[in-house]
Amino acid sequence: MQLRYLDADPLTHETPLLAVGLTLGTQATSGLLARIDEALAGAVARALRTGDLKGRKVDELLLYGGDSGGPRRFLLLGLGKPDDLDGETVRRMSARGVRAAERLGLETLSVWVPSVEELDDAERAQAAAEGAALAAWRFRELKAGPEEEDDEGSSTTQVTSVDLMADGDGEALAAGTMTGAATARGENLARTLQSRPGNVATPTHIADEAVRVGGSVNLQVRIYDEAALREEGMHAILAVSRGSHEEARLIVMEHRGGVEGEPPLILVGKGLSFDAGGISLKPPGGMEQMKFDMSGGAAVIGAMQAIGELGVKANVVGIVPSAENMPSGTALKPGDVISTLAGKTVEVVNTDAEGRLILADALTYGARMKPSAMVDCATLTGAVVVALGNQAAAVLGNDDDLVADLIDAGETSGERCWQLPLWDEYKKQLESEVADLQNVGGRPAGTITAACFLSEFVGDAKWAHLDIAATAYGDGKLPYQRTGGHGVPTRLLVQWVRSRAG
Ligand code: BES
Ligand code: MN
Ligand code: ZN
Repeated sequence: MQLRYLDADPLTHETPLLAVGLTLGTQATSGLLARIDEALAGAVARALRTGDLKGRKVDELLLYGGDSGGPRRFLLLGLGKPDDLDGETVRRMSARGVRAAERLGLETLSVWVPSVEELDDAERAQAAAEGAALAAWRFRELKAGPEEEDDEGSSTTQVTSVDLMADGDGEALAAGTMTGAATARGENLARTLQSRPGNVATPTHIADEAVRVGGSVNLQVRIYDEAALREEGMHAILAVSRGSHEEARLIVMEHRGGVEGEPPLILVGKGLSFDAGGISLKPPGGMEQMKFDMSGGAAVIGAMQAIGELGVKANVVGIVPSAENMPSGTALKPGDVISTLAGKTVEVVNTDAEGRLILADALTYGARMKPSAMVDCATLTGAVVVALGNQAAAVLGNDDDLVADLIDAGETSGERCWQLPLWDEYKKQLESEVADLQNVGGRPAGTITAACFLSEFVGDAKWAHLDIAATAYGDGKLPYQRTGGHGVPTRLLVQWVRSRAG
């Protein structure tokens, strides 16, 4: 997708569609809206006067321009209450513009980026760029036949270019556009990896993709195969992988954008390419969705691509443990005791609690790099769906400042997270009769006990965990999402790293 900031007059810029936002209570008496009203012989004022158009979030009005140049269509998009206007409103607005273009059969459109009190020019251009690029993404690579036209609107045009225009500092607006485009490209890569089924996106494939990404944005990538994992002592990753014919991998991607020797920020993502549950087999209903169990890994690879592309001035390491969790005659069994890279032993009471096992080794590996902070993201527990629904990821950690920074980055990026407690009392649920700890803590507080388990493997690193099981994929309710992989929390990770960079 081509995204650019254009320093042009929106009323004379030649475009098939110009999307313009308006807040609740706006009059067509000033600014761009007044000029559009004048060009359309009072059509905007009339729509406002009838009350058909108010600026509510649901309002959309398509008006037609003349033949003498400038926009052929004007799409007026309600933005809701002026006081509630924020980056997410802008992101959704430009995405709504893209969706309208798709329906109208337009490959290109322009978006007028609204002013937002709490955002600077770079920030609002970034949000608009993200909304447009994310909305245009689609996953078609596995459809063999051509798309068929129908009259229900399910077949739509691919938008290939979007021009952003705005009042303000051109340099900042252009820079923000580039930041948003790179961030969205990273998130769209995550979505593509998520969407690929388990027979395509195997651990080997995910590792190959990480190598390809590293080559394209100049990251140092190292892949550990099973022999190397054994050599290192990462027995927890190997234990999970034992029931599968697919080989496990550990992916390590390094961006050296900071001062040499400066401790890195570390991103870790669960890369379970398919989670059947192992011998503790999952029920069949909805099991196909477990191809998304590598969503954390996909987000880390996507974020690393964006971080490399943006040349962020920080040392950042992305770590993705990847394996497939299957039942077989060689699979891990309930009651088995395994060892880990950290040296701790774990009684595997339930083989379906496998994410925390592969993460245990990856977190220990990360902690040994002496990071300034380490953040992992994982589709770890069904319990987080109950706790927070689809509105926020859970965040838990051993450092309150880090948790607060992540909540902030979530708010800014539109990928929200909310804290759950990580009190020592919960750790009792993980006590084992035979090993140092067991991998499940019973029904109460499932998301918290999972994080407690991880906390045992981070050494003295400042660390936080994002449980993204309810947000990483879903039915795509937002205008810049579709059903399937959402790429969450790629934007949050990129935002957090940029906020920590020099
Ligand atoms: N990948 C699942 C978690 C999950 C569940 C993600 C639903 C998305 C939707 C994870 O490996 C798992 O199976 N967790 C178990 C843990 C339990 C056995 C303690 C769960 O949440 O049921
Ligand atoms: Mn599982
Ligand atoms: Zn899993």
